[in-house]
Amino acid sequence: MAPLVTLEKHGNLGIVALNNPPVNALSHGVRQSLSELLSRAFSDASIHAVVIWCEGRSFIAGADIREFGKTPLQPDVPEVVELLDAAKKPVIAALHGTALGGGLELALACHYRIALGSTRVGFPEVTLGLLPGAGGTQRLPRLIGVGAALDLIVSGKLISAAKAQGLGLVDVVVEEPLRASALAFAETVLLEGRPLRRVSDLVAKLDAADQLEAYRASVAQQCRGFLAPFHCIEAIRAAVDLPLGEGLARERALFIELMDSSQSKAQRHAFFAEREVTKVPGLPDATAARTLRSAVVVGSGTRARVLGACFADAALPATLLAGTQEELDNALAALRVSAAAGAGRESASTKERRAPITCSLDAGLLNDADLIAEAGAGDVTAQRASLGRIGAVAKPRAILVTAMPYADIDDIAACTQRPEDVVGLHFHQGGAARGVEIIRARDTAPEVSATLIKLTKSLGKVPVVVQGPVGSRMFTAYLREALFLLEEGALPAQVDRVLHDFGFQIGPFAESDRSGLDVEWQRRKVRFDSLDPRARACTLLDQICEQGRLGLEAGAGFYRYDADGNATHDPAIESLLLRHSKDRGIVRRTISDQEILERCLFSLINEGARVLEEGVAARPLDIDMIWIHGYAFPVYRGGPMFYADELGLASVRSAMLGYAAESGGEHQTPAPFVERLAHALKGFYSAS
Ligand code: CAA
Repeated sequence: MAPLVTLEKHGNLGIVALNNPPVNALSHGVRQSLSELLSRAFSDASIHAVVIWCEGRSFIAGADIREFGKTPLQPDVPEVVELLDAAKKPVIAALHGTALGGGLELALACHYRIALGSTRVGFPEVTLGLLPGAGGTQRLPRLIGVGAALDLIVSGKLISAAKAQGLGLVDVVVEEPLRASALAFAETVLLEGRPLRRVSDLVAKLDAADQLEAYRASVAQQCRGFLAPFHCIEAIRAAVDLPLGEGLARERALFIELMDSSQSKAQRHAFFAEREVTKVPGLPDATAARTLRSAVVVGSGTRARVLGACFADAALPATLLAGTQEELDNALAALRVSAAAGAGRESASTKERRAPITCSLDAGLLNDADLIAEAGAGDVTAQRASLGRIGAVAKPRAILVTAMPYADIDDIAACTQRPEDVVGLHFHQGGAARGVEIIRARDTAPEVSATLIKLTKSLGKVPVVVQGPVGSRMFTAYLREALFLLEEGALPAQVDRVLHDFGFQIGPFAESDRSGLDVEWQRRKVRFDSLDPRARACTLLDQICEQGRLGLEAGAGFYRYDADGNATHDPAIESLLLRHSKDRGIVRRTISDQEILERCLFSLINEGARVLEEGVAARPLDIDMIWIHGYAFPVYRGGPMFYADELGLASVRSAMLGYAAESGGEHQTPAPFVERLAHALKGFYSAS
């Protein structure tokens, strides 16, 4: 095995090179060799300056996250950083790829930083529920000023080499080959006798006395519920108020607090789950994907346009197939409007990658498309018929996609003569949702799923492969419990507030209004015969939808909406609830926030357990990714299944049984899988 770190001499220069694929993380082995070789280079009188650079695709992308939560091994990252800070000869960090977290902290302790133009730098620790814990919060404000340091550290965003140079974080942007440029730069430093520029010698000053308080207020809403952003601000305060040594100690204490927090544990889990989710057991990797050159979306309404736009954004030319000239004209007009709305707001790379999207009446296009998505049918019967027709004319190996969120995928696949080509695709909507469910039928060919994983990943989405709808099914269970709470005495605003306080962006009723109540209503009608007696009798959704209150777009749903989409309490809904409870013989009562929270979440978790037991989702992390990226489940709680494990399934089970006894509701009966795990004192993640 190649050594993790090497020291090579080039004239009077020492080159310390790291080689720890894939991203040169600062694992224990790297830290050990790095500090040993740096010490050797610093004590070697024939070496006058040192260059640190990395083999492979990237400079150091930070501490090794896989070591977090385990017993820390010395030397730690701060020790290596201190070694650099104390160097008595020039040290130059040569950056490429990404220089992140502990990697950037290491570079900050060097005297000069040079970077290739394509480099991106940043402190993503906050996205792991952490702060830069190796001097980053102390050195960055000293080097680039408090305001810029706050922006970089609290947002966790990466910036380009050019921007970093503009801020004074990078000294020079150089051309390939980096190693040669770095050596040339080091020679210049020596030749010109440039000073040792230690960031730790600088002073961090506020631009205004209330700068930190003002900043804290400006991010309060956006960072609601998270611990780490506010700890980052406190650490930067220490850089201003305290001498370096004391500031570093304060930073360390705040870092350890975060490292031990449940939030960071959950966010670290989410980091790895996001990478694990596309490694689906039994599926080939992206190299086996089918080649896609064109897509046809059958339909021209909103659903079809959203899907077509996604394909086009993934560099796949897309044509919407309209049924009539009027539909075609409307679709073209809508495409023009959205193109105009998007112009100027998208990045150059998005624009560059995007393929054309158009609309046509020519059904002959179906014969030649590599991917055909059905997004025009209004109900399952129409969807089955349409896909049957498409399957008969599409060329061999064309992928047939159904985009109906509540349809039975096996049933639909069976309507074609080629079930191996059929797959369901559901893009979650709302906010910055990145979740996509790729719904395999029993016979879907593995490379068909692999093709859609590749396609959706190229859009920056988080694809999750499942055997049937998962997110919508769990949402139905969650909403059903929320509706039961309404008939027992709660109001929509109370339920939504409790779930918002838990960390969701919006509660179940605001969420339903946003996505349109007709979707959930349709699903209820399709499944009515299989509903339990209480769910059948809870007709609130029917009553509300029958009044035409179909949600935000209709101006009314569980709430009333003004022209700007702001929700207000609607007395008409309150009256409807009072009447409904009376008709059902339910005596309304005051329901505590805790009961609301637990009943809603436990219903969600319980349905997740059923989904797992039935094999509809293969792993708990699949469900967690769907909920974090599709429904804005707070990432600092790790997703519903991770959260349940943190609570302990034995306590979830006993609380559910308590509610079931009180309300006599079988809906709060723990699923058999929950029962088994709770008895075995296991969790979803430790089930096997
Ligand atoms: N530690 C351990 N493993 C890491 C890692 C890290 N810091 N960063 C990435 N990896 C692993 C990933 O888990 C993945 O592993 P698998 O192939 O087994 O799934 C592999 O490296 C490649 O990662 P990506 O799939 O994410 O590759 P990418 O090219 O899409 O992105 C990246 C590369 C931008 C570096 C991205 O991986 C990333 O953002 N990594 C995290 C960086 C980070 O958060 N650094 C701060 C760490 S905390 C810290 O440094 C604390 C401190 O102050 C001391």
